[in-house]
Amino acid sequence: MLRAIFIGLSESQALRHFAERSPLGLKMSRRFVAGTTVEELLQTTERLNRLGIRVSVDNLGENVTRREEAQASANLYHQILEEIDRRKLDVNVSLKLTHMGLDIDERLACRLVTELAEHAARINNFIRVDMEGSAYTQRTLDFVRQLHGRPGLAGHIGTVLQAYLRRTLEDAQLLVSENIRIRLCKGAYQEPPEIAFQAKSEVDANYLRVAKFLLKSGVFHGLATHDQAIITHMQRWTQAEGIARSAFEFQMLHGVRRDLQERLPQKGWGMRVYVPFGTEWYPYLMRRLAERPANVWFIAKNLLRG
Ligand code: FDA
Repeated sequence: MLRAIFIGLSESQALRHFAERSPLGLKMSRRFVAGTTVEELLQTTERLNRLGIRVSVDNLGENVTRREEAQASANLYHQILEEIDRRKLDVNVSLKLTHMGLDIDERLACRLVTELAEHAARINNFIRVDMEGSAYTQRTLDFVRQLHGRPGLAGHIGTVLQAYLRRTLEDAQLLVSENIRIRLCKGAYQEPPEIAFQAKSEVDANYLRVAKFLLKSGVFHGLATHDQAIITHMQRWTQAEGIARSAFEFQMLHGVRRDLQERLPQKGWGMRVYVPFGTEWYPYLMRRLAERPANVWFIAKNLLRG
């Protein structure tokens, strides 16, 4: 129930407007968000890289309603790609299609993401298109497949699949047949039982099913989860199957299970942390609270201490 409440709150425009402008809200977000400026983001990235952890940066924002917002977001991503190249950081880029204007004009989103993928290809980098709620699943997959098929972009753009969706194994089969890199996560939105598994045990079972399919494909994929049982299971399974540690990576969110994030690369496992930054942190923070409502008390305690 708490999960549904937080996901409901994540969609409230009024609360979002209020929270993102309040100094207290900003303080609360700091556990999961690297900061509001590119410089803060790059400092966090450099620190993680020094620990042997790769990064994917996310300029926070989604469902923009004005063309200028989408363009400004794309411009910021170009600036980040330039800095990544200049500082030789081990980091790629994650973005949301609705942040690139998908809700306003599909052609605008297509132009902005194509330009970013071309920029990434020029510097041998990679754009990951995050997966949003199920209203966007098919459009996101079509979009990524179309871009991946363009000359020079293969291998420079990939996407995300969510294990809670019943369709995901089929989607994985299609994307893998085109050598598209996938990040597999459980899924962070509220979806109905007709299209999504509801019980954790079912989601976890599908996660393992799809993860094993992906890691046998020979394409480099990311397993995004903080679930210790799944991580241990996949470590044992890849060892038994003779799949090299360098053939895939684990991925986690900034601020979640930092102990594991540091331990995995020390033991030779690939590890990438998703580092969000920016002023539009409210829906992202609410989804993190939905995943683990105990984070509310954790954040409150830190605020009181602060
Ligand atoms: P699960 O929720 O079952 O939690 C397992 C354990 O992990 C918990 O018991 C707890 O110990 C820890 N944990 C999980 N979440 C926590 C939190 N917020 N705070 C503290 N501890 C926590 N989703 C999506 O729909 N589209 C996307 O594009 C992405 N992208 C993405 C990238 C990366 C790198 C990650 C790691 C995750 C995403 N997600 C996502 C979010 C994902 O779908 C999912 O909601 C979260 O990862 C939580 O699921 P877990 O797999 O961690 O397991």
